[in-house]
Amino acid sequence: MKNISILGSTGSIGVNTLDIVARNPSRFKVVALAAGRNLSLFKRQIDKFGPEIVSVIDDEHAGKLREMLGYPVVPKILSGDSGYREVASWKKTDMVVSAISGAAGLPPTIEAIDAGKDIALANKETMVMAGELVIARAASRGVNIIPVDSEHGAIFQCLKGHNKKEVKRLVLTASGGPFLNLPLERFASISLDDALQHPNWEMGRKITIDSASMMNKGLEIIEARWLFDMNIDKIDVCVHPQSIVHSMVEYIDGSVIAQMGVPDMRGPISYALSYPERLQGAVETLDLCSVGALEFMSPDSGKFPALELAYAAAGKGGSAPAALNASNEVAVGAFIEGKIRFVDIALIVKEVLDSHRTKEINRVEDVLDADCRGRARAREVIEKRMIS
Ligand SMILES: NC(=O)c1ccc[n+]([C@@H]2O[C@H](COP(=O)([O-])OP(=O)(O)OC[C@H]3O[C@@H](n4cnc5c(N)ncnc54)[C@H](OP(=O)(O)O)[C@@H]3O)[C@@H](O)[C@H]2O)c1
Repeated sequence: MKNISILGSTGSIGVNTLDIVARNPSRFKVVALAAGRNLSLFKRQIDKFGPEIVSVIDDEHAGKLREMLGYPVVPKILSGDSGYREVASWKKTDMVVSAISGAAGLPPTIEAIDAGKDIALANKETMVMAGELVIARAASRGVNIIPVDSEHGAIFQCLKGHNKKEVKRLVLTASGGPFLNLPLERFASISLDDALQHPNWEMGRKITIDSASMMNKGLEIIEARWLFDMNIDKIDVCVHPQSIVHSMVEYIDGSVIAQMGVPDMRGPISYALSYPERLQGAVETLDLCSVGALEFMSPDSGKFPALELAYAAAGKGGSAPAALNASNEVAVGAFIEGKIRFVDIALIVKEVLDSHRTKEINRVEDVLDADCRGRARAREVIEKRMIS
């Protein structure tokens, strides 16, 4: 029996994780849960899975949750940063599913690593912002980090049993999102609803918009750089609209090993939860004959400048990827609020990166400083754009 804590249980990854737990009661038990503000769903999850400890975003939400639960015996209810850290390091936990969205996922993930918990990592921002630190910290504590991102889960599997020195390059596949075939001239009028229509995956709003701009793939390049200790110039992106090939590893002899499956996040999540074993019937079987043709093409950097921005930030290193991530989060937030256009997201990130003074990252505080600077600068750029 593996005891699980989930950070971000009310999100898309969290809900899928709980579905796997519910279908495998003899393998997994939920001992701790953390959510943000979605109290009605969180209450249902608490009722169903009976965690010992839970946390929400702040005291106000914790108070409301306490009233809603109203049991004679309630789980320990906490809130905020310290609450998330306690969920992440709960004594009975064996594995933490890190699935809070955005930079907010970093501190509790680090707390979990420091407490020696294995990590099923969905929160890619942790790796983008602090990959080098996180990998070193996990290694020093003997912590396994198993990727949940389908691309990284695929590469993780394609590397198994092979000599890493013989890897020529990693190829991350990308669906291309809803605007793959939209002419560039129409990008200026993309609406929020348009950007939220992902063709293959149902995900939270932030990652869905990142997928539409392909910043998601940019973040994943940086995530792969640290997870697999691979130079950035050995990580490529290939657009594959069907999302059947989840990613590939090319070896020096010209062989390419790909991992395939139906586009269902319960596949990579269940692999991460049960690693090194596999769960029976985790997802529907892939029938390639009924899928038919699979397409592959190069990304269009004219339509999707975010990819090049991510390569540039990764090339600069130090605090630059954290600034990239922070400015993107602020810009995506502004797009969701209707303050800027879709095409402005990459322009804002570029302006922030161009003016960012890259500093070394030696401690978590350096990461948080870069995050703060990136956010502040992005807000300035957005305000300037709204005025002019
Ligand atoms: N969805 C996917 O298929 C997918 C695939 C690969 C990787 N990922 C990564 O997994 C992470 C989660 O993605 P998602 O799609 O599941 O996101 P999501 O549906 O938006 O869910 C985010 C979760 O985090 C919580 N949350 C948001 N902001 C928070 C904050 N400031 N403090 C504490 N909790 C907060 C939310 O709580 P409330 O809703 O209760 O407020 C929710 O539980 C992201 O890093 C994403 O890039 C997702």
